Amino acid sequence: MASLCRGHLSGQALLFVQLLLLPVALLLCAHGAPAATGKIKISAVFMFGDSIVDPGNNNNRLTEAKADFPPYGQDFPGGVATGRFSNGKVPGDMFASGFGIKKLLPPYIGDDLQLSDLPTGVAFASGGSGYDPLTSIPATATSSTGQLELFLEYKERLKALVGEEETARVISEGIYFTVMGSNDLANNYFLLPLRRHQYDLPSYVNFLVSSAVNFTMKLNEMGARRIGFIGIPPIGCCPSQKVLGSRECEPLRNQAAQLFNTKITKEIHRLNEEQSVPGSKFAYLDIYYNLLDLIQRPQFYGFKEVAEGCCGSTVLNAAIFIKYHHACPNVNDYIFWDSFHPTEKAYSIVVEKLFQQNMHDLM
Ligand SMILES: *[C@@H]1O[C@H](CO)[C@@H](O)[C@H](O)[C@H]1NC(C)=O
Repeated sequence: MASLCRGHLSGQALLFVQLLLLPVALLLCAHGAPAATGKIKISAVFMFGDSIVDPGNNNNRLTEAKADFPPYGQDFPGGVATGRFSNGKVPGDMFASGFGIKKLLPPYIGDDLQLSDLPTGVAFASGGSGYDPLTSIPATATSSTGQLELFLEYKERLKALVGEEETARVISEGIYFTVMGSNDLANNYFLLPLRRHQYDLPSYVNFLVSSAVNFTMKLNEMGARRIGFIGIPPIGCCPSQKVLGSRECEPLRNQAAQLFNTKITKEIHRLNEEQSVPGSKFAYLDIYYNLLDLIQRPQFYGFKEVAEGCCGSTVLNAAIFIKYHHACPNVNDYIFWDSFHPTEKAYSIVVEKLFQQNMHDLM
């Protein structure tokens, strides 16, 4: 079942990208551009963010936010626990395969990185990270600023490998995604006292939006021209965030996520209009309503369980706390794998929707 989903996703998504690109190519040709430049090329995929897209950057860190042991990865090729926070692949892998670039998007940090992977992209994402610099400290994750520093280091390594000119091509033809904010809200603002003491919720959301915009602009200044900004999911619906004993989503956390998403959408529009780096494209990609739809219409997507995680549902049913625990026997019935993270099946449905909805804004 899981492998069927994967095949289905990459095939569909790829076809869709091809359909999308065709009219663009025709348009460019009609305007007299040489045919060769009429084709939009994607050289590489780069992923910044938190555990939603971390494929194992935290493996050698002293942190609770890691997933390189069973039952994580039970449905990953070979059944290996790579550090991905799910039973199988995570969205970065699905983006890379959807664009026809490669099957998996590897972590940048670690001894397993193959040099041959550098020119087609890597993930800098780190479980526990956020746009607020304070969020990564208790999680000992790589902060959003730290991830940008890794990107600078990556560029130097790529230059040493393929030279200046080819590096410039890879960087400018790459497609970049960022996914953070869940930890800023769920594990910082709503859990720890400091930020709540400093900010009420709307002002904290404004602070996060400003941090996210600054992050996006810095990435843009570093050479990223096409940036997909993925919003905050309905974190109030994660099993760990629900009111104890209730199957309902926690409303305040969901409202905070929606408020952030609404504001950042406007900022993304503004960035597109202002174009501080000419030729840049920014797109807001919605994970909130796309995931919520699975939670509200589970039968439509073939899910049976929306409230519980396959590995458990309390805050202690994720990351190192479930080391060597048993997973549920029927993971494909579940939207959530652990108490925070969706299953591979849920991710693949959401990513396929993103390809269909607004990936063309980045082309
Ligand atoms: C974002 O950058 C602006 C301009 O440099 C600065 O004034 C603002 O404080 C920054 N926002 C955050 C949250 O750091």
